[in-house]
Amino acid sequence: MLLIKTKDYQQMCERAAEIIIEKVNAAAPLKLGLATGGTPKGIYRKLIEDHRNNGTSYQRVTTFNLDEYVGLPPHHPNSYHFYMNHYLFSHIDIPEKQTHIPDGMASDLEAECSRYERLIDTEGGIDLQILGIGLNGHIGFNEPGTSFLSRTHVVQLDETTRRANKRYFSSFAEVPTHAITMGIATIMKSSEIILLVNGRKKAKVLRRLFEEEVNEQLPASVLKKHPHVTIIADEEALSSLY
Ligand code: F6R
Repeated sequence: MLLIKTKDYQQMCERAAEIIIEKVNAAAPLKLGLATGGTPKGIYRKLIEDHRNNGTSYQRVTTFNLDEYVGLPPHHPNSYHFYMNHYLFSHIDIPEKQTHIPDGMASDLEAECSRYERLIDTEGGIDLQILGIGLNGHIGFNEPGTSFLSRTHVVQLDETTRRANKRYFSSFAEVPTHAITMGIATIMKSSEIILLVNGRKKAKVLRRLFEEEVNEQLPASVLKKHPHVTIIADEEALSSLY
């Protein structure tokens, strides 16, 4: 794992955006895995800024999001469909049909998981996957204890994850209890992965990531087995390590 240390959140986002933009501008079409949550918002702002100022085009980019809540329709302000349109897709020139997010409203959720996994494979796999990390070490919505062999599946969300995401809802009871997520094996199939970690709140889990052996109680630890992972972390997130 390569570690890029940045001064703060802004610098972390700039560094990640630079890497993405370089790949978007490369000769080959790009399949990009995307995350939601607080962490990548600043990166999406940078991508939009660059699209406006430098004309970087997303016509040859296909995206796959990591996850979506079960039971929230795409127009619900807390759905990840809404998030992606709001924070990125509606501001760049990516064709809608090239943006993929699991359908948390599907009547047959198991069939939706298989469809999503197959779609990633038939499109040739993800070239670059962007990841955030949960306070409990989750990646995507793969909570501690999830098998490293897991493919796209329905998960019951951990209490800590629901509490961490409560800030977006008016009450804890409204936070969905289930989600569809790419599995750990799905994430590990990506050719390259960038893990973003910022803020003092993430210092403890980042320290665990560096100190612990690969184990299923710390889902992100699996990334140590991937040949091409870059962690971009700011000083606050790295503060427990020094
Ligand atoms: C989001 C996702 C999650 C988040 C993680 C960190 O699509 O899959 O794993 O990356 O929960 O969330 P934030 O960035 O809000 O701290």
